[in-house]
Amino acid sequence: MIFQSLLAPCSILISLFASANGIPTTPTVNKRAELDAWIASQTSVSYFGILANLGSAGEKAYGASAGTLLASPSTHDPDYFFTWARDSGLVFKALVDEFIRTGNTELQIQINDYISAQAKLQTVSGPSGSLSDGAGLGEPKFNPNNTAYYGVWGRPQRDGPALRATVLIAYGRWLLENNYKSAAADIVWPIVRNDLEYTAQYWNQTGFDLWEETQGASFFTTAVQHRALVEGIKFAGSVGASCANCESQAPQIRCFLQHYWNGKHVVSNTNLTPDPGRTGKDANSILAAVHTFDPEAGCDDAGFQPCSPRMLANHKAVTDSFRAIYPINSGIAQGSAVAVGRYSEDVYFDGNPWYLTTLAAAEQLYSALYQFNKAGSLTITSTSLSFWQAISPSATEGTFPSSSSAFAALTSAMRTYADGYVAVVQKYTPESGSLAEQFNRNTVGGPLSASDLTWSYASFLTMAAARNGFVPASWGAKDATSLPSVCAATSATGTYSPATNTNWPDFPCTPAKLVRVTFNALAKTSVGQNVWVAGSIPELGSWDVGKGGVRLDASRYLEAMPLWFGSKTLEAGTAFEYKYVHWEADGRVIFEGGPNRKYTVPTSCRMGASVEGNWQ
Ligand SMILES: *[C@@H]1O[C@H](CO)[C@@H](O)[C@H](O)[C@H]1NC(C)=O
Ligand SMILES: *[C@@H]1O[C@H](CO)[C@@H](O)[C@H](O)[C@H]1NC(C)=O
Repeated sequence: MIFQSLLAPCSILISLFASANGIPTTPTVNKRAELDAWIASQTSVSYFGILANLGSAGEKAYGASAGTLLASPSTHDPDYFFTWARDSGLVFKALVDEFIRTGNTELQIQINDYISAQAKLQTVSGPSGSLSDGAGLGEPKFNPNNTAYYGVWGRPQRDGPALRATVLIAYGRWLLENNYKSAAADIVWPIVRNDLEYTAQYWNQTGFDLWEETQGASFFTTAVQHRALVEGIKFAGSVGASCANCESQAPQIRCFLQHYWNGKHVVSNTNLTPDPGRTGKDANSILAAVHTFDPEAGCDDAGFQPCSPRMLANHKAVTDSFRAIYPINSGIAQGSAVAVGRYSEDVYFDGNPWYLTTLAAAEQLYSALYQFNKAGSLTITSTSLSFWQAISPSATEGTFPSSSSAFAALTSAMRTYADGYVAVVQKYTPESGSLAEQFNRNTVGGPLSASDLTWSYASFLTMAAARNGFVPASWGAKDATSLPSVCAATSATGTYSPATNTNWPDFPCTPAKLVRVTFNALAKTSVGQNVWVAGSIPELGSWDVGKGGVRLDASRYLEAMPLWFGSKTLEAGTAFEYKYVHWEADGRVIFEGGPNRKYTVPTSCRMGASVEGNWQ
């Protein structure tokens, strides 16, 4: 199974954390083992949490097209039942890396669906414009059926195309390495090409930041744009094409990136109209470090890698900004992990900590640890000294080789500190493992805002992978060091054309033994009535709802779409009959009319299937 591979083998745990007789030596060891166990189960919850929000067969995704990923199944307060270019790109990057590492073919099927959906989405004209001059690619958000969303919104957002290019390039490289050259060149590249052209043309124009609130230039956006163009140059070459605009613009973007550093921390948003007057300390920057992490890059400051002194100083500045403002952080000493939000001035849903930003605070540090180990040394400069002294009071400036005791002490302190952020998330995650967008800043804790946020789950998967030393492929940061001596406001006008080929080759795949079948019943009900599925097989109660029928969920019920949904995992090939059933508040069970419905669980490589029907 997919998540199995995210666990460190037991033997490693024993050798690291136990004495010779196998008995844990200190209370810290017990805590770490407990955290390991929780991470293992939460990894599985997170994986299924993502697939539930993915069209068309996801349990919570009724109405979403194939390969279209919802930000959350929440349809009101807030309504996130849409697909975002950014969220989808980030989540699918996590899934592509997981596929590459594990070979899970169920994931590959979803990835292919996602890419096919993106080919179409690029051609959808909307409020940001159309594909003809690229402007339409800056549209951040679409309806779940891949039509344009015309509501008032913070648009354009210029990180989406870059993030999509990054995930498609990661998959494209796999295709090339596995002899699917024409799929890489003819299906993936035409989509990537549009996104790279867009990025090279519009990077120097203002847009909305990743939180969709400020119009200006945003560190996260600039950082991921630079990354996309750099890897785009190489990928273009590997499919027999080129990207001249990537080559001309990438160094200028890297030049601009330096502007965001104020000597102490990243100022995450600049060129703002209007300027909300914030400090600029924002988890935007930590996410930028996480999503431009390159396992082969060094720690030099101009690269803004997780291990760079700048980004460690920034980590401290950003995380410290939440210490005083959240009651749940009160009393937590400097150098111990806290709950992390977006930025301290945040008022959205009263401005609470977010799961994905707290997890990113951990992930940056795990990634930095990988880089120190790979480099064989760790350097503390005057820039990063206060970060290190907070977690290891005797830290001093200098370079410490991995053979030194200082290196061992510093990296151990960093790992403990990183684990602390994961433990904060553990503390405020409900028993079910369900990850919302936010958790309550007050001592009551508890999830808030959108439920089952897809990005929260993906951030858990990437954190867990980084913690276990599984790193994504390099994007070429080490060689992308060109830095013009004077930054210029530039742009390269691109050319755009629809990507029309989505004829994937027949990839070998593992047939699914078990399939999660989702029932979507459209049934008008009154208060107190519930809808169940009862069927002819024991898994569906052998016609007795009380004995194993599936209780459906009405959380998306509307007059216009009276949806009841729920799922059951069944063996592929199982044939059965079933009906929808009302189970009244007074205990009466009423079967719908008409003939029995018939269904055979599909035998294919897909682990999810769905059926739809009106109450009869
Ligand atoms: C797509 O979804 C939108 C909003 O959910 C809806 O208004 C529209 O009618 C749908 N279009 C099609 C072609 O199904
Ligand atoms: C465009 O680039 C120039 C040079 O780096 C920079 O000064 C300016 O702030 C940038 N503007 C935007 C909106 O990116």
